[in-house]
Amino acid sequence: MTIYLDHAATTAIYPVVAERLVEDLQKLGNPSSIHTAGQTARGMLEGAREDLARVVNCDRQEVIFTSGGTESDNLAIKGLYWESINHNPDKNIIISAYTEHHAVIDPIEWLEKYQGAKVHWLKVDERGVVDLDELEQFVKDNQDKIALITLMWSNNETGVLTDLRRVVEIAKANNIPVHTDAVAAFGHTDVNFFPGLTAMSLSAHKVGGPVGVGALIVSRNAKLTSLQQGGGQERDIRGGTMNAPGARAFASAARMSQTKLSTEGWARHELLNHLTTGVTRAIPSARFSRGSAPGVPDLAHFTFPGCSGDSMLYLLDQHNIAVSTGSACTAGVARASHVLIAMGRTQEEATGTLRISIGRDTTKTEIDEFLKVLPEVHAAALKAGLTA
Ligand SMILES: Cc1ncc(COP(=O)(O)O)c(C=O)c1O
Repeated sequence: MTIYLDHAATTAIYPVVAERLVEDLQKLGNPSSIHTAGQTARGMLEGAREDLARVVNCDRQEVIFTSGGTESDNLAIKGLYWESINHNPDKNIIISAYTEHHAVIDPIEWLEKYQGAKVHWLKVDERGVVDLDELEQFVKDNQDKIALITLMWSNNETGVLTDLRRVVEIAKANNIPVHTDAVAAFGHTDVNFFPGLTAMSLSAHKVGGPVGVGALIVSRNAKLTSLQQGGGQERDIRGGTMNAPGARAFASAARMSQTKLSTEGWARHELLNHLTTGVTRAIPSARFSRGSAPGVPDLAHFTFPGCSGDSMLYLLDQHNIAVSTGSACTAGVARASHVLIAMGRTQEEATGTLRISIGRDTTKTEIDEFLKVLPEVHAAALKAGLTA
């Protein structure tokens, strides 16, 4: 049996959600059709919209279903940027941080390369905390030129949290739209669409829903240029036939994961403490990446000096233990983590990383098994690193 400790990459679909999804996929009807079959599908979709809205505390019209976190990030960033420059071509600065997921960094760099965007990457400290004093000063100095601010709620590699309420406070005085990628935070901390946020990205497969479904929550007062036209669905923001079964599965999983977090969040904290103490006891040179900064209760990220994270990952895999070196999107390619580099680590430090992420069914016995094999794996990876 595999000990799966990579729930931040993707986690298991809830069995009841999967069962219902299989049933729903066999129901005929396009939510845009007028006949009874179509209207039944529409009912499923609108029910899901209402349920998800309740979970994240927004208005149901504010939920735009998408194909996942990557699409939601692209839609928010490009959509808000284009809306801004259409009104005022000089309002073309995007503010973000280089610790973001590539689903945020890449569209920003694309806008910079092809669409005339100017980008300001905020400084990040050694724990991965974004410098919000710098944000405040930059906004003061450039208030009329800023198209949007995009900062993630929780970092998918280190688990560090951003003080988004302060970000919104800073932006509010100058009417600057704020987008947050909440994909890694949703289901792990209390995520809600609080007043002042303009847009928020979510993904179903991180909370026990299916892959290929997500949402962008877009404030009723916000305007955003759509990326894909056709059909006028989803408030004309996201054309294309709506995935009613996927939306229902997402909404159910979101509700279940929120309930689990509120009832069992403390247990994950305890498990994480057990894990982090165990790792630092077994390998004193290991460094807990986010240090003392606030973070999610179920993700630990470490650097192991002198080791390649990939070597450790492969060696652990031989023991049937699945972890990650960081983001699933870059794992598999021996590349330094851009997040750790942004946090000021050296190239070597940023390749010697492991991310261990706890899921809703992870047990202490599984963590103990990981801790048991870690010294042997570490010693082998260290030896390989020294002889490489
Ligand atoms: C913070 C963050 N944003 C965006 C994504 C992309 O989401 P999706 O896999 O649904 O496209 C991920 C996935 O790893 C993520 O962790």
